[in-house]
Amino acid sequence: MGVKLGILGLGTVGTGTVQLLQNSGFRHPLLQEVEIYRVGVRSLDKPRAVTLPQTVLTTDLEAIVIDPEVDIVVEVMGGLEPARSLILKAIQNGKHVVTANKAAISRFGDEIFSAANQAGVYVMLEAAVGGGIPVIQPLKQSLSVNRIHTITGIINGTTNYILSRMQTEGSNFSDVLADAQQLGYAEADPTADVDGLDAADKIAILASLAFGGRIKLEDVYCEGIRQVSKTDIAYAEKLGFVIKLLAIAKRITSSPPISIRVHPTLVPKAHPLASINGVNNAILVEGEPIGQVMFFGPGAGAGPTASAVTSDILNLVAALQTSTAVPNPLLTCAHQDYCQIVP
Ligand code: NAP
Ligand code: HSE
Repeated sequence: MGVKLGILGLGTVGTGTVQLLQNSGFRHPLLQEVEIYRVGVRSLDKPRAVTLPQTVLTTDLEAIVIDPEVDIVVEVMGGLEPARSLILKAIQNGKHVVTANKAAISRFGDEIFSAANQAGVYVMLEAAVGGGIPVIQPLKQSLSVNRIHTITGIINGTTNYILSRMQTEGSNFSDVLADAQQLGYAEADPTADVDGLDAADKIAILASLAFGGRIKLEDVYCEGIRQVSKTDIAYAEKLGFVIKLLAIAKRITSSPPISIRVHPTLVPKAHPLASINGVNNAILVEGEPIGQVMFFGPGAGAGPTASAVTSDILNLVAALQTSTAVPNPLLTCAHQDYCQIVP
C-alpha cells in the first residue's frame, strides 16, 4: 500500500524533509511506501533546492487537506493561521497529521487533539520540541512510569547560538541573529525566538506531557535575551557562570503546584547545561525513580528537524500498513492521553 503525503510548506523544514524522503542514501524500507503527492507553498516562482514534478507543487493548500488521495498531512508551514485551520480541516477529512509547529500545538492543542480524537486520526509532533532530539516520544513512552519533578531545558537553538557566539567570540547580538536566520534556525518572525516565546511554547508542551493537564502559554513566565549584553556575559564568565536561556518546569509543593518559566539564567560552568553551545539543545529531566536523564542534540536546522518529521511519518506508515494502532500507543490524540496524569 502506498501512503500519500500532502506537505504544507517547503521552507527550511519542508525542504529538509523532501530531501530526506528523496535521498536514496538514507533508504529506510518504509520510505519506499511513501509518495510525495502534493506540496503546498506560497509562491510557485521561488527557486527551490529540491526538484519535484510540476503537478506536485501548488499554492492551493486547502485543496491538499481535503484531497481524498492524501493520507498524511505534514504541516511544516509554521505560524498560527492558516496553519491551525488547515490542520483542523485535514483532521476533519480523516488525515493523520505530522507537525513541527509548537506554536499551534501549544496554543490550539485542545482543539486539535479533541478533533483528532473524534476523527480517529493521529497527530504527531516530535519535531515541535528540540529539533532533531527525540524527546516527545521518550517522555510519553519510556519515561511515562516516572513521577517527573523538573524539566530544565535549552530548547531554542537560535538564542543558544546567539548567546554562545556572544560568549566565545564577543559577537554582536544583531550580527549573530542574522547568521541564525541565514542558517534556517530562526522562526519566520525571529522575535518569537529572541523574546522567549518559542521556548515558552515548547516548555508548555513538555510540561503538559510530563505533569499532565493542560499547560497554557499564558501559564509560562517568559523573558527573552534582548537585554543580555556582552558586558553581562563577560561578568558572568569572571564569576564562573555562563548565561543561558533556560526553560524550566518544576513541580513545587506550595500553590501554584507547578512553576513554569523561560528566562536568561546564570548557569554555573560545571552544570551539564553550561557546555551546550551553538544551535544545540538539551533537556534535563529529573524524576523518580529514574533520577536524571539528559537529551542532547541539534535543536534546529533542516536536516535534524527533517529527521524528527520523517520518523513521525514512518511511525504512521507502519501503523497504517499493519492496520494496528500506532506503535507508540500513547500517541493517541486525546489531550488527556498526551498528558500523562501523575497521581
Ligand atoms: P520557513 O522556512 O519560513 O518555511 C515556511 C514554508 O511554508 C515556506 O515554504 C512557505 O512558502 C510556506 N508557507 C508559509 N505560510 C504559507 C501560506 N500562508 N500559504 C502557503 N504557503 C505558506 O519555515 P521553517 O523554518 O521551515 O519552519 C516551519 C515550521 O517548523 C514552523 O512551525 C517552525 O516553528 C517549525 N520548526 C522549524 C525548525 C527550524 O529549524 N527551522 C525546527 C523545528 C521546528 P514559500 O516557500 O512559497 O514562501
Ligand atoms: N526557531 C527554533 C529554534 C526552531 O531556534 O529553536 C526549532 O524549533
